[in-house]
Amino acid sequence: MFIIGTSFYFALLSVLNVAAQVQALDPFIFGSFVGNSATYSVASEIGFFVNQGLNVTLLPIPNSTFGYDTLLDGGFDILVGTVDNVVNMRFNSQKQFTVVGQLDLGPDLVIAGAPGVTSVSDFRGKGLMVDSPTSGYAAVLQKVLSLHGLQLGTDYTFQQVGGTATRFELLRNGTLADGTPTAGTILTFPFTEEAIAASPPISIVARVSDFVAPFFSNALTIRSESADPSSDPNSTLVRGVAALLGASRFLTNLSNKECAVRAIARDNGISTALAENEYAAATNPVSGETSQVDFAVSQLGLLNVIDIRMLVGGFAQVPPGFDFVDAIEPGPGLLLDFRIRDAALNLVKEVKSGECPLTHQ
Ligand SMILES: *[C@@H]1O[C@H](CO)[C@@H](O)[C@H](O)[C@H]1NC(C)=O
Ligand SMILES: *[C@@H]1O[C@H](CO)[C@@H](O)[C@H](O)[C@H]1NC(C)=O
Ligand SMILES: *[C@@H]1O[C@H](CO)[C@@H](O)[C@H](O)[C@H]1NC(C)=O
Ligand SMILES: *[C@@H]1O[C@H](CO)[C@@H](O)[C@H](O)[C@H]1NC(C)=O
Ligand SMILES: *[C@@H]1O[C@H](CO)[C@@H](O)[C@H](O)[C@H]1NC(C)=O
Repeated sequence: MFIIGTSFYFALLSVLNVAAQVQALDPFIFGSFVGNSATYSVASEIGFFVNQGLNVTLLPIPNSTFGYDTLLDGGFDILVGTVDNVVNMRFNSQKQFTVVGQLDLGPDLVIAGAPGVTSVSDFRGKGLMVDSPTSGYAAVLQKVLSLHGLQLGTDYTFQQVGGTATRFELLRNGTLADGTPTAGTILTFPFTEEAIAASPPISIVARVSDFVAPFFSNALTIRSESADPSSDPNSTLVRGVAALLGASRFLTNLSNKECAVRAIARDNGISTALAENEYAAATNPVSGETSQVDFAVSQLGLLNVIDIRMLVGGFAQVPPGFDFVDAIEPGPGLLLDFRIRDAALNLVKEVKSGECPLTHQ
C-alpha cells in the first residue's frame, strides 16, 4: 500500500511537473518583416524557443510605421527589421530603438524583374515596386540602378505597395492590384528562391551583394529602455535572444544541414528541394545569416547602410556636422548596445549532436 502510494505520489508529481513545464512557457511576441528567417525556422522547429521556456508568436509587420510604433508601445518583445529603419529613426528623429545584434547580411537580396524583364536596362521608362520610397531597400535599388545609368524620376518611378510577400505576388502577375503594369522590385529570403522556382521563373536581374558588401540588413531590435539586462538576466527578452543564438550556432554548423533543411521546409511549408536552396542562401558567407558569429555587428556593413542612405538624401533632419562614426559606437542605450546579447550568451542551450528533434506544433 505504501509502495503503491509512493509510486502514485511520484506519478502525480511527474504529471504536475509536466503540466508545470507546459505552463511555465512565457509568451514572447516576435515582430518580423521578413517572416521566417532560417534562424527563426530553426529556433522554432528545433525547439530552441521551448528550451528557453518561451511560447513564441510571430507577428508579421505590414509596414514600418506600424511595426516600430508597436515595438515602442510594448506590443513586441523584439522586432526583426532592417537596420536602415533604426538608423533613419534614431538619427533623423531620436526614436529610442536599440540594436542588440546583426541577424544577417541581406540573404538573397536581389532585384527581380516582372515577366518579360530580363536586364536592368529593361526598367527604363517603367515603375518598380517598393515598400516605401524612403526605405533602405529603395535606396539600395536606386544605387544599383544608378550604377547602370538609370536615375529615379527620370528613367523609372517607384510604386509604393508594401511588404515583400505582397510585392512577390504582384511581381508574378506583372501588375499592381489596380492593373497598372510593374517592371520589378527588390526581393529577399525566402521569396527569391521561390521566384527562381516559379513557373514561369522570375528573372533575377541583379544581386545586391555584387554591388554592396558587407551589407548589414536585418537587426535584432528592441526598445532602448529594455537594453539593460542587469536587473533580470533571465528575462524573456534575454532568453529569446539566447534561443536565437542557439539556433544561429546550429544553422552555422554544416553537420546540421539536413536537419536545418527540414526545419526550413516545415516552417515555410515548402518542398525539401526548395528548402535546400533556401538553406544555401541562408548559409551564403557573403550575404547569408551565418557569417555574423553570435550576431556580431559588422561596423563596415553598418557604414555601408549609412552611406547608401546618405546617397539618396535620407538624413534631412540630421544636424550639420553629425558624426556618424561616433554615433555607431556601442554603448548603453545607444543605437548599438550588446548587453542583452552578452547576457543571452550565458543562457545558450545547444541541442545534442546528431539529433534533429523537430517539435510538434
Ligand atoms: C501559447 O500561446 C498561445 C497563444 O497565446 C496559446 O493559445 C497557447 O495555449 C500557448 N501554449 C503554451 C504551451 O503555453
Ligand atoms: C500600416 O498597417 C496598419 C495596420 O495594419 C494600418 O492600419 C495602416 O493603415 C498601415 N499604414 C500604411 C501607411 O500602409
Ligand atoms: C493576379 O492576376 C489575377 C488575374 O488577373 C488576379 O485574379 C489576381 O488577384 C492577381 N493577384 C494579385 C496578387 O494581384
Ligand atoms: C538564471 O538562469 C541561470 C541558468 O538557468 C541560473 O543558473 C541562474 O540562477 C538564474 N538567475 C536568476 C537571477 O534567476
Ligand atoms: C558541429 O556539429 C557536430 C555534430 O553535432 C559536432 O560534433 C561539432 O562539434 C560541431 N562543430 C562545432 C564547430 O560546433
